[in-house]
Amino acid sequence: MPLAYEKYLKEVLIDERALQRRIAELGAQISTDYANCEDLMLLCILKGGVMFLSDLSRHILVPHVIDFMAASSYGFGARQSSGSVRIDMDLRMDVKGKHVLVVEDIIDSGYTLAFVIKTLQNREPASLRLCALLNKQSRREVDIKVDYIGFDIENKYVFGYGLDLDERFRNLPFVGVANLDALVDE
Ligand code: IMP
Ligand code: MG
Repeated sequence: MPLAYEKYLKEVLIDERALQRRIAELGAQISTDYANCEDLMLLCILKGGVMFLSDLSRHILVPHVIDFMAASSYGFGARQSSGSVRIDMDLRMDVKGKHVLVVEDIIDSGYTLAFVIKTLQNREPASLRLCALLNKQSRREVDIKVDYIGFDIENKYVFGYGLDLDERFRNLPFVGVANLDALVDE
């Protein structure tokens, strides 16, 4: 039986081994950078960041708390961001005085993270840094400083490892390039 995702997959862009190796490196770097930090919070942006958060967190040797926030942009349709972003679910913990590291799946236009950063900054964290697994630099429309990047990728729609194709296939252990024609055919 063919696997359900196969017809949507043009190619595997980053396989499981490469993902896990890079995430271990990021975890080691973050562990060094925050070595003496007593108030580290990993803030995962749902839903796409959830696989990355759970693997990354296990490589961070500094004691930390985790929390979640859901943000979405609306206006341009499912595969393109607009300038309008809203918080669908706020985090439960107080960020004031905490060293917050935002964990995100992918930065495309940058609108989502720019809005999240502005929202968090108003709440007076001790520090605020960003960690994104994937970065599509060529798509950037707002300038944001990303402190940790897993992989720079080209302007292609990708899915798997937390990223969805119309909400499906977040569970794949690799990142693949989508064959969007297969969706149009449905
Ligand atoms: P931005 O606001 O344009 O930076 O968009 C960021 C959000 O759009 C990400 O958090 C993802 O949820 C989603 N996104 C952007 N590009 C892709 C992609 O190639 N695959 C899946 N989701 C994407
Ligand atoms: Mg996301």
